[in-house]
Amino acid sequence: MSLPSSLLGPVRRLTTAARHGWGPTRLADHAIRRHQAVQRLPELAGLVSMVAALKPNVVVEVGTRHGGTFSCWPTVAADGALLVSMDLPAGSFGGGSGDPVLARLAEFLRPGQRLETLRQDSHLPASREWLVGVLAGRPIDFLFLDGDHSLAGIRQDFETYGPLVRKGGLVAFHDILPDPGNAHIQVPEFWAELRGRYDAREFIDPPGRTSGGMGIGVVRV
Ligand SMILES: C[S@@+](CC[C@H](N)C(=O)[O-])C[C@H]1O[C@@H](n2cnc3c(N)ncnc32)[C@H](O)[C@@H]1O
Repeated sequence: MSLPSSLLGPVRRLTTAARHGWGPTRLADHAIRRHQAVQRLPELAGLVSMVAALKPNVVVEVGTRHGGTFSCWPTVAADGALLVSMDLPAGSFGGGSGDPVLARLAEFLRPGQRLETLRQDSHLPASREWLVGVLAGRPIDFLFLDGDHSLAGIRQDFETYGPLVRKGGLVAFHDILPDPGNAHIQVPEFWAELRGRYDAREFIDPPGRTSGGMGIGVVRV
């Protein structure tokens, strides 16, 4: 017997909370329903709980769009954390964020935390130089890559920004599952290469699914 559709959302939130905790589930739920994150609730809640355990001092997100996933990070980051958002206005894979989004990102921060934003192609050498300047010698604790989803694009983001992540820090990738309907999303090919080389974890809903798109992969570098 299947559940009435009105109960599907609450049941999904309950089962996600049982698995990943209420805090991460609430953050992920708000990110999706209020801030337009294109994510699956259990997958994002799993990532949020892993980042919360890390309590990062420095978070860098490449690909922020409307600020959905970014809305999760200040709550689980350390007091005084630096939060960085890089996005390309009118970029591919969702279309980037303009001024109203920048104002919203600032509202997610807790007192004492700092926001830095760059609206520019992450692949430009100037973008890396800007980030290195902003970091001022601090390593990244958590890097979320959700910008250019082409094979060359995700590879370049990982090779450019991955070395700035501290040993034991996390790099997360969205869209690790193949989706025949979205062949332009090539993160799955890169993830297949990468996951064997690192301590890797996957958040996939429902567990065991191997196609159909989305899914989050995390490596500890
Ligand atoms: C899938 S959306 C990000 C969604 C967001 N993380 C969320 O779930 O709430 C991808 C974003 O990456 C941006 N983007 C695409 N290519 C980029 C690039 N080369 N540099 C920076 N941002 C890029 C797009 O403009 C878009 O805003």
